[in-house]
Amino acid sequence: MKKVTLNTLSKLKADGEKFSCLTAYDAIFSHLQNCAGVEVILVGDSLGMVLQGHDSTLPVSVDDMVYHTKAVSQGNSSALIMADLPFMSYATPEQAMHNAGRLMQAGAHVIKIEGGAWLADTIRLLAERGVPVCAHLGLTPQTVNVMGGFKVQGKTPEAAQVLLDDAALLEANGASLILLECVPRSLAKNLAEKAHVPVIGIGAGADTDGQVLVMHDMLGMNTGYVPRFVKNFLAESDDIQSAFSNYVKAVKDGTFPADEHGFD
Ligand code: KIV
Repeated sequence: MKKVTLNTLSKLKADGEKFSCLTAYDAIFSHLQNCAGVEVILVGDSLGMVLQGHDSTLPVSVDDMVYHTKAVSQGNSSALIMADLPFMSYATPEQAMHNAGRLMQAGAHVIKIEGGAWLADTIRLLAERGVPVCAHLGLTPQTVNVMGGFKVQGKTPEAAQVLLDDAALLEANGASLILLECVPRSLAKNLAEKAHVPVIGIGAGADTDGQVLVMHDMLGMNTGYVPRFVKNFLAESDDIQSAFSNYVKAVKDGTFPADEHGFD
């Protein structure tokens, strides 16, 4: 597959073609996802939960993210690699620049940060210095303690408007991508239509430009709790490689996510 860049994703959005994103944390899964045609690999701080066994992403360090971003980069030849700046590593714009630099040097092509309007200056500084940013809005797991749990966001008209305003502001300040987690599908559709940059959804319905899932979730690996927006692709595939390919196909033909995976 040709190397995926931000331009590739913008063109897919303009052409109304969906794209796929999965998390990966090491070289072999990165390679298998390349073979399946996954456009974006997210080195997510979800590794704190699925690899390290914590009950949130808060304990993940920048060193952890650098280690896993390097490993994913080693196995990757075609996907756009996006890496998370973990909790408290971008509390100030200076911290963000220092830590984003480390992730870019480890092999990330885009860095992802969680939060709304307060990130406008940080995103502008990073973008000006050559660091493309994905703004993660909606359910932002690093602020689980403020939100009182992993809950659907943007349910009231007021909360929905805040998300729309935040997305527009962060895009105006240079965000290259938006990731929208656990919001009603009508809000996600509205936001994706208004945004000029590609919008990736998880638990946000079928109308965003791209879809992302945590790899362990879509391979049916969990410790009991399975979020509503997850589908186990391995259950109906012969092996892991086919599960990745079937996910890409389902995202592209619009059969994933189905209505049952979204929120009203
Ligand atoms: O860290 C992660 O895996 C994420 C996804 C849930 C989008 O941010």
